[in-house]
Amino acid sequence: MKHLIDILDLTTEEIDELIVTANDIAANPDKYATKLTGKVLATLFFEPSTRTRLSFEAAMLELGGSVLGFSEASSSSAAKGESVADTTRVVGCYADIIAMRHPKEGAPVVAARKAGVPVINAGDGGHNHPTQTLADLLTIWRKKHTFNNLTVGLCGDLKFGRTVHSLVEAMARYEGVKFVFISPEELKIPRYIITDVLEPLGIPYEEVYNMEDVMSDLDILYMTRVQGERFFNEADYIRLRDTYILTPEKLVPAKEDLVIMHPLPRVNEISVKVDDDPRACYFDQVLNGKYMRMALILKLLEVTV
Ligand code: CP
Repeated sequence: MKHLIDILDLTTEEIDELIVTANDIAANPDKYATKLTGKVLATLFFEPSTRTRLSFEAAMLELGGSVLGFSEASSSSAAKGESVADTTRVVGCYADIIAMRHPKEGAPVVAARKAGVPVINAGDGGHNHPTQTLADLLTIWRKKHTFNNLTVGLCGDLKFGRTVHSLVEAMARYEGVKFVFISPEELKIPRYIITDVLEPLGIPYEEVYNMEDVMSDLDILYMTRVQGERFFNEADYIRLRDTYILTPEKLVPAKEDLVIMHPLPRVNEISVKVDDDPRACYFDQVLNGKYMRMALILKLLEVTV
């Protein structure tokens, strides 16, 4: 049985297949409308979410399936002390596939061992968020028609931003990719990403503080929210949260075909004045996420498309 815990659980060929399926779903939704009739998706969200949970639910409904689940730990028996292992073993009796978000890193691995059905990591702590990366990859593909030879700037909270970690793992597998990590010292990309992902493959990267210094080099600019919920000290969060605010003025030196991305939710990292810039793709990511989650559910349930 296949699960999706880390983006590296999918080969580049499998990601290509998902992109083909997602594009076909977008073009021919009626063809897929009854593919999962009688199947049930459980969304177990122990942390808040708008996009990920609702896009999983929309994805399953648009495939003809049904959904059940909870959107906060306090409305489940986790509030009484039930373990992730027991919760997922129970839910595996009711559902054919599970999407789970949890504040503890590694919780989806525990779930996958016990559920008896495929488990999808919908975000685990500050670790990984592989289905956001699928949304991001489809967005990049639709704009650039390649993943090769891109200079990818990632800006903001690179320490706790799980979408960043998954996207770097994914993009590191393509030829000619360079990374520019833009962050304050306290929110730098974790060392394991450098030592375990980039250095073994000889992938070039630089770490900078000023967005303005590198803006003209970038093909992709991936903005992120400072993850206040992962800070131990509120004063540090308040000090760091507005370090980067993307404005039309800061985009003046940027390439005409720059792709501006953000996994959302946005707090203050991108001025709403940027929203009408044709290079702003963060709401495209939302819709692309639904298509990729539809393709992923079909794949994990081994449904022929
Ligand atoms: N991008 C993302 O994970 O958004 P939500 O937290 O709203 O699911």
